[in-house]
Amino acid sequence: MKVAVLGAAGGIGQALALLLKTQLPSGSELSLYDIAPVTPGVAVDLSHIPTPVDIKGFCGEDARPALIGADVVLISAGVARKPGMDRADLFNVNAGIVRNLVEQIAHTCPQAFIGIITNPVNTTVAIAADVLLREGVYDKNKLFGVTTLDVIRSSTFIAGLKNKQPQDVHVPVIGGHSGVTILPLLSQVEGISFSEQEVVELTRRIQNAGTEVVEAKAGGGSATLSMGEAAARFALSLVRARLGENNIVEYAYVEGDGHYTRFFAQPVLLGQNGIAEFLDIGPLSRYEQESLDSMLDVLNKDIELGEAFVRS
Ligand SMILES: NC(=O)c1ccc[n+]([C@@H]2O[C@H](COP(=O)([O-])OP(=O)(O)OC[C@H]3O[C@@H](n4cnc5c(N)ncnc54)[C@H](O)[C@@H]3O)[C@@H](O)[C@H]2O)c1
Repeated sequence: MKVAVLGAAGGIGQALALLLKTQLPSGSELSLYDIAPVTPGVAVDLSHIPTPVDIKGFCGEDARPALIGADVVLISAGVARKPGMDRADLFNVNAGIVRNLVEQIAHTCPQAFIGIITNPVNTTVAIAADVLLREGVYDKNKLFGVTTLDVIRSSTFIAGLKNKQPQDVHVPVIGGHSGVTILPLLSQVEGISFSEQEVVELTRRIQNAGTEVVEAKAGGGSATLSMGEAAARFALSLVRARLGENNIVEYAYVEGDGHYTRFFAQPVLLGQNGIAEFLDIGPLSRYEQESLDSMLDVLNKDIELGEAFVRS
């Protein structure tokens, strides 16, 4: 099993690489790539951790040496938010980076599962899909926008509010990965009920949690460590599914049946070939249904922006 991290010298990339070095199954290979010259050194540093995971680092303009034979590729290359920016502000720089890296994936390891972390995820996933489509290698069951951070933040915030253990609180989060498009389904959290005011406040906090970190870091970046954890959890699920483990369900931003929008964060059952089944989002409360209806315009526009970028 070979896992490649693109953007591996960054805040997310380094945290993710550390977690994968310590948690990937024995015999796995970890391949780190970033344009930054420090990247081979990051790999040397991690190689001193005594786990049975081989690690190599690559830098420069060409990602392909890092991608040869990769089964799972995670992309966190790009720029992160600063105070006053929203995820859409990242579009101009990150769109080009994602397009370029996905082209190299298409030519080097077209069978890989691809997890997109680079923001704005609502748009960068559309870019990745249409680049793969143009290159004739698109398999919608293998492309994922990583929204796991929304899921783990939701568990943490609800556990804090309701005095529960975070690992016992499971929260579906659907829609997209920015502002109002992030929709936690609090009505589906088992064993916990919420007042109307709690629903409104928690939903708002989950939707703005990224900004909470950006402001707290005061110009020093956005979520990196919690995102590293979220990406590692998601990547390890992909790895376990690819190795044949059954019954792995994750929430991710994927191209499903297009019922709401072309790409939509929903539960998926993972298998050896990627998504084995797109699962239903289940019953929604009136508040959730209204929130869903009113986000679709924003999400559609984000997706169209990505589609137009690849066409241009
Ligand atoms: N999906 C999510 O939930 C989520 C959460 C937080 C941040 N993000 C996004 O993840 C991305 C990375 O965030 P970060 O905090 O790690 O940023 P960072 O600036 O710390 O790291 C980004 C890395 O990408 C590298 N890079 C830039 N251009 C590259 C290219 N063409 N090829 C390879 N590497 C390249 C940089 O050298 C840098 O090391 C940002 O777009 C950020 O908005 C996503």
